[in-house]
Amino acid sequence: MALREIRIQGDEVLTKVCRPVKEMNDRTLELIDDMIETMYDADGVGLAAPQVGVLKRIAVIDVGDGPIVLVNPEILETSGEQTGQEGCLSIPGKAGDVTRPNYVKVKAYDEEMNEYIIEGEELLARALVHEIEHLDGHMYTEKVEGPLYDVKYADEEE
Ligand code: NI
Repeated sequence: MALREIRIQGDEVLTKVCRPVKEMNDRTLELIDDMIETMYDADGVGLAAPQVGVLKRIAVIDVGDGPIVLVNPEILETSGEQTGQEGCLSIPGKAGDVTRPNYVKVKAYDEEMNEYIIEGEELLARALVHEIEHLDGHMYTEKVEGPLYDVKYADEEE
């Protein structure tokens, strides 16, 4: 496993549509391991492959219950609404308020290419939508309500 360089907003790779994974191989398994390690090292709750410069439909998430690997994820259902703070490892130190569905149901494949369904609410729903949007070249700043703010200032105000 190795840390990968996280691409920062302004890097063109973050605006591209990623390609589906057709079959798993050692190189892609290594990418997934590296993405998980890179996400933990950066204290993130999610990371998408384009954020490490790879245009494949892969994302990893951990909202505190262990790593979730999403290969070729597709949103099947959404419902409800939540508005809250959202950040991105590609925009370090900043956050903004974004409205997202409060529930999402996603179909994806794991690292062995077994299809599975994952349902998420609240933070997990937010992370699922955020990461899947990365795979189509979208960033949360396209949906942010109001200006971005410094995450440290936000914490200090509480
Ligand atoms: Ni992000």
